[in-house]
Amino acid sequence: MPLFKWLPEYSVNEAELDSSHKKLFDILNTAYENVMNSYEVDSALPVIIELSDYVKSHFLEEEQYMREKGFKEIEAHIAEHREFSDKIESLKTDCHGNNLDVTKELIVVLGGWLLHHVIKEDMKYSCCPKA
Ligand SMILES: [Fe+2]
Ligand SMILES: [Fe+2]
Repeated sequence: MPLFKWLPEYSVNEAELDSSHKKLFDILNTAYENVMNSYEVDSALPVIIELSDYVKSHFLEEEQYMREKGFKEIEAHIAEHREFSDKIESLKTDCHGNNLDVTKELIVVLGGWLLHHVIKEDMKYSCCPKA
């Protein structure tokens, strides 16, 4: 059973962004499984790096979309993206420190944050009409 599951009600009414959200959840699940099934946190590092890279490109794609739509709360939204990016960077650092428990915990926290962000924050621009 995957830890994080994308559901149709999470749709932001934009196919490409929905598919990046699904992909983000998939990467998070893989990262968590890797960490759960290993004793060496280093084996989870490649997927955490993949998550970090994917998140960066998703945020850029989403910010561009919000700009095109003229979404009014874009600045606050971008600030949330920055905060999350910083958290992922610290996860990478903890991985390098080979702290398995901290890494597991951080993946769960990050996944919860991401789920909440998609459901609450991304949903706001999905309702915003095109400018
Ligand atoms: Fe998003
Ligand atoms: Fe977002």
